[in-house]
Amino acid sequence: MLSDSLKTLLASTQSFAIKSQNFHWNIEGSDFPQYHAFYDTLYGDVSDTIDKIAEYIRILGAYTPGSLTRYVELSVIKDQTKIPRAELMFVESLQDCETMIQLVTEMFDQATAERQQGVANYMAELQDLYAKKAWFIRSILKKERE
Ligand SMILES: [Fe+2]
Repeated sequence: MLSDSLKTLLASTQSFAIKSQNFHWNIEGSDFPQYHAFYDTLYGDVSDTIDKIAEYIRILGAYTPGSLTRYVELSVIKDQTKIPRAELMFVESLQDCETMIQLVTEMFDQATAERQQGVANYMAELQDLYAKKAWFIRSILKKERE
């Protein structure tokens, strides 16, 4: 059901947001100001999507999960309890962006099949958001040309 997929997306988005805030607080390195700011923006942009996802679940007639226990059960984004080095934070965030892109791409097709065009439209927006974040992170990770 589309509402079940939205629950997975909601939980994964919460996990992604928490991890981005963790990295915002704890990242270190010579480019600290840019890294710190990048993760602040990432956290903010991802957090801004949470309420709309949650409200679509209610619009479709299901109840919205709202507890940390349920989010851990439902999320496809793995929690990070450690403080990785800066480069490893970016590698992990890039993989998480790719996981989110895969999820919202599948959900676009599901929403279209169920003729829920508003949800499909929002999945397209989220695909754009995570694709743009992935581009930023790939550019941060790129080694300088000789
Ligand atoms: Fe901050």
